[in-house]
Amino acid sequence: MSYNIAIDGPAGAGKSTIAKIVAERLSFIYIDTGAMYRAIAIYFIDNEVNLDDDEEIINACSNIDISIKYEGGVQQVILNGENVTSRLRDEEVGRMASICSVFAPVREKLVKLQQSLATKEDVVMDGRDIGTVVLPNANVKVYLTASSKARAKRRYLELTQKGISCNIEEIEEEIIERDKRDMERKISPLRKAEDAVLVDSSNLSIEEVVEAITDLIN
Ligand code: DC
Repeated sequence: MSYNIAIDGPAGAGKSTIAKIVAERLSFIYIDTGAMYRAIAIYFIDNEVNLDDDEEIINACSNIDISIKYEGGVQQVILNGENVTSRLRDEEVGRMASICSVFAPVREKLVKLQQSLATKEDVVMDGRDIGTVVLPNANVKVYLTASSKARAKRRYLELTQKGISCNIEEIEEEIIERDKRDMERKISPLRKAEDAVLVDSSNLSIEEVVEAITDLIN
């Protein structure tokens, strides 16, 4: 039996940073499920899929093949044979990922892929519905959150360090809007699984959060 760790939480709470470190320390595989929704978003953007047309969404999903591979330990997402990893973090792609993740055909496709990966390997998987839907029997479940202010500040620092000029209030508004969409959607909304442990990272360092999670595993 594989060992599964589920980390859910809103955008910008530090899930991927933490999940990567925990996976590395345990020699587990880190699976970033948001990247899969982002890859589907790229397909929707490039093919101008009409979001008001259910048939078109179903067809698009049946034309999409997503797989992941690892290069130097870093997850790469392959969309219909093309490595789209360099585009995954674009703002436009993140926004579209949140929008297209509300559709049932999109979720069904990705949940299946995620479940099959987790049965084969020991994984740390992060996302929005991992503890509630994808891996309800995960060995450890964490709900990692932080205030919208703390998350906006982190994102602001990340972007300015890359030389991208941005406005912290606008970033916070975008975060609040994304939370609302992720938490209020009908299918698999973002919520804490009843048996997940809540970790609020607003005033914790990365190492403190990693320690809190490794304590749970031990
Ligand atoms: O974690 P992220 O920002 O890369 O995720 C992008 C979007 O994908 C997020 O706003 C909602 C969606 N998502 C989801 O619905 N379920 C997941 N397990 C992961 C992401």
